Amino acid sequence: MTLDIRPLHPLFAGEVGGVDLRRAPGPDLVAAIDRAMDQYAVLVFRGQPLSQDEQIAFASAFGALDIGLAKLSKSRSRLDYPELIDISNVARDGSIAPSGDKRIAGALANQLWHSDSSFQAVPGKYSMLSAVILPGPSVMGAGDTEFADMRAAYDALDDAMKAKLDGLVAEHYALYSRMWLGDEDWTGEQKRGMPPVRWKIVRTHPGSGRKSLFIGSHANRIVGWPVAEGRMFLLDLLEHATQRKFVYRHEWRVGDLVIWDNRCTLHRGRPYNMTQRRELRRTTTRDYDAVNDGLAEVA
Ligand code: OGA
Ligand code: MN
Repeated sequence: MTLDIRPLHPLFAGEVGGVDLRRAPGPDLVAAIDRAMDQYAVLVFRGQPLSQDEQIAFASAFGALDIGLAKLSKSRSRLDYPELIDISNVARDGSIAPSGDKRIAGALANQLWHSDSSFQAVPGKYSMLSAVILPGPSVMGAGDTEFADMRAAYDALDDAMKAKLDGLVAEHYALYSRMWLGDEDWTGEQKRGMPPVRWKIVRTHPGSGRKSLFIGSHANRIVGWPVAEGRMFLLDLLEHATQRKFVYRHEWRVGDLVIWDNRCTLHRGRPYNMTQRRELRRTTTRDYDAVNDGLAEVA
C-alpha cells in the first residue's frame, strides 16, 4: 500500500490523504504509516474526529502504549483510558483550570521543546495527538504546535561540533521542566518515582539510519560536566536545533490527528488564550528498542 502524501516542509512533515483512521488499521496500513514515518517523522491526517475508543484502537496497532507522567499522578484522569493523555487546560471536573493551577503549569511545560517521555528508560516512540476542542485566535496565538527535525539539525552541525558531541551523555529527569516553571509541589515519593535516565545526545534513528540529536527540556545536565556548563551547552545546542529552517508549525483544525516520531523530532505547544478551552488527546507508543541505541544508564 502506498500513501498519498503531500510534503508540508522542505525537510520533513507530510499530510496524508485518502485514509480513514476511525477503522482500526490493518497490517498493510500500519506498515505504510511506519514507512512514511521513517521518512517524514511528522504526519498530519485531517478530518479524523476519533472517539476515545477509536484512538486507543488505532494507536494500539502500533505497539504498547505509555501513560507518561500520569504514573506520578494521585488521581484519575477525566478520560476513559489511562493511556489517553489529557492535553488540555481543563480540570478533572470539566471546568477550565484557573490561572495559577498546577494543570496550567503542566500545560505550559508542553510549550518547552521536548521529546515525549525522554525521561523514561522506555521513552516515547510515536505520539498521536487528536484535536477535540480548540481556542480561537488571540493576541497570545492560537495554540499551534511546532515540530523540529533533529536529523536535519544534526546534519547541519560542523565536523568539530559533531566530534565534540560524540559520546556525550545527558541526564533526563521527568520533573525538571515542571520545577523550572516553579512547580515544586511534588512529594518525595513523586520525585523518586521516576528516577533520571541517561541518553547519548547523538543517537541513530533506526528507520532511516540517520543520526539525530536527542535533547529537550527534560535534559537537565551533561554527565561528567559541572551542571552550569552542561545546561548552557544544552541550551545552545537546542537553539541551533530549533532554528526556523528546521521547524514545521502545525495550525490545528478540530479532527486533526498528528503523529510524530519522538526519536528524531522535538515539539512544543505555542501560547494561546488559556481562558478558552483547548482539548487534545494524546496516545504514545513505547520505544522498547531505545535500550539498544542511546540508553547509557538508569540512575
Ligand atoms: C504533547 C504536547 C503540545 C501541544 O501532546 O505531547 O507536547 O501543542 N503537546 O499541545
Ligand atoms: Mn509532548
